[in-house]
Amino acid sequence: MAEIQSILVCGAGTMGAGIAQLSAVSGYRTLLFDLSSPVLIRAEQQIITQLNKLEEKGAISAEANKATYERIQFTSNLDLCKADLVIEAIIENVAVKKDLFNKLAALNGSKTIYASNTSSISINSLAEEFMYPHQFAGMHFFNPAPIMKLVEIIQGEHSDPTVITVLVEVAKQMKKTPVRCNDAPGFIVNRVARHYYLEAMYMVEKGYLAIEEADAILEAAGFKMGPFKLMDLIGLDVNYSVSNIVWEALQKPKRLMPSSLQKVKVEAGDLGKKTGKGFYNYL
Ligand SMILES: NC(=O)c1ccc[n+]([C@@H]2O[C@H](COP(=O)([O-])OP(=O)(O)OC[C@H]3O[C@@H](n4cnc5c(N)ncnc54)[C@H](O)[C@@H]3O)[C@@H](O)[C@H]2O)c1
Repeated sequence: MAEIQSILVCGAGTMGAGIAQLSAVSGYRTLLFDLSSPVLIRAEQQIITQLNKLEEKGAISAEANKATYERIQFTSNLDLCKADLVIEAIIENVAVKKDLFNKLAALNGSKTIYASNTSSISINSLAEEFMYPHQFAGMHFFNPAPIMKLVEIIQGEHSDPTVITVLVEVAKQMKKTPVRCNDAPGFIVNRVARHYYLEAMYMVEKGYLAIEEADAILEAAGFKMGPFKLMDLIGLDVNYSVSNIVWEALQKPKRLMPSSLQKVKVEAGDLGKKTGKGFYNYL
């Protein structure tokens, strides 16, 4: 079985920065790649802050903090992007992801394992025309990646079973709870959770209740975060794109129709916490 020593995380946004932190904390040599230098700088600052918080809480020693930080390399140079395992967390777009995987395959070859953190794009469709489909699978972390325990390991039609075993082991090394599933629209959690977001937006759109009320009621009912706060954390563009992909993949059932309330926000560039404004204002 392939031994993973180095992990390349592609995309240093909401998910990628957290996955890179987790990877380095778990002892892997980590490379964080993004096309955007400002995003990389922000990710580096975020990781430093989070590691310092862990040290202040006594969760890691000062030496471990330093060693963890030193295990991470930040780059916007694709030529440096070589590792035993690739975890791709770039924008939710099939063509862009495929293009990156093809470039990475040419650089890394047939031994590397290629995993996508996609929330909703079919793993089989991403593996189509990919040079090493047997080395390809889904590894779906939840937001915030360093905290959320669940990781869905998604087996594509051509994924080699040993690749799935390696991904399960890596997730365990990261102190996560891996759950295997087959490729299906929305996998498990995003399929089930669609109604949490869509029904809440539908009710607000119809004037039954306000955004703040919906969040307060569901939090009082035991959910950790109300749907609107959660969508702002996830990113409205990401959440809207997942809704569209799941809806289309299931032949557009009315009960899963994406919300125009969300569409308007996405088109206005109000994407949630990451842009300072979404359903709530963070500025
Ligand atoms: N946001 C969430 O809660 C969440 C949860 C689980 C999974 N995901 C999935 O993770 C992936 C990333 O989501 P996110 O919320 O972190 O997005 P994001 O918008 O915060 O970050 C995406 C990053 O990808 C970079 N990028 C775009 N094209 C690139 C390329 N060709 N090469 C390198 N970098 C590139 C962008 O510069 C950006 O920094 C998506 O597939 C999404 O579905 C998101």
